[in-house]
Amino acid sequence: MEKTHKALEFFVKEELTYYPNFINFEGGEGSGKSTVLRQVAEKLEAAGYTVFITREPGGNGTDMAERIRQLILSDEMGGMTPMTEAFLYAAARTQHVQEVVKPRLEAGEIVLTDRYVDSSLVYQGYAWDNLATIAEINALAIVGVMPKTTLFFDVLPEEGIARVFSNRQDEINHLDARDMSFHQKIYEGYQTLEAFFTDRYVNIDASQALEKVVEDVYEQVLKQIQEMDKK
Ligand code: TYD
Repeated sequence: MEKTHKALEFFVKEELTYYPNFINFEGGEGSGKSTVLRQVAEKLEAAGYTVFITREPGGNGTDMAERIRQLILSDEMGGMTPMTEAFLYAAARTQHVQEVVKPRLEAGEIVLTDRYVDSSLVYQGYAWDNLATIAEINALAIVGVMPKTTLFFDVLPEEGIARVFSNRQDEINHLDARDMSFHQKIYEGYQTLEAFFTDRYVNIDASQALEKVVEDVYEQVLKQIQEMDKK
């Protein structure tokens, strides 16, 4: 536990900027975060807000990061070492944050991202028992840009995976097909981060019906934006 906390301390440093208009959506496969993100963005736009939606690996508006995404996720890449993969995620991230995310945050837009640094901390770090190294690489990659709020889409891995297989037969990629113990580990990883980053993490009950999850997330995002307006 102590080791975990030490590794994560990179992300609670004073020199980081916690942007109130930056929110990352995190969770395991089949947690519904991508669908909810789109619907919440539409609701915000209808209410008159300027919203920019993006995702990692890759990113909206960055060809370079998207090319790195293709490299990471392509099915043929059997020979990639875990460290290569970790550096590629971090490389895509630093490109995304510098080219797209930071300028938009500075311009006052609301940036909602489907995954950010927490995904690497969990998938490359916690799951592979390599948290300290992954934290260190990513502390460099984020160039000081952190979300004030991280939404953790909390659903048991069994349920998430069952959803993936029932909803998107056509889209199942090699990452979803990994065995249950891996997904269980991912879930534990997020729970560990949630317990550490108590100021930043908000738990979203993603086992609820989609409409209810959208409502809960919309409420959280609005709360966050309204706090921003007060300043
Ligand atoms: P994607 O098809 O975008 O799916 P999802 O809806 O689950 O986000 O695939 C992204 C995959 O990449 C997902 O399995 C998590 C993984 N990932 C990492 O392992 N590390 C990272 O830093 C990021 C951003 C994603």
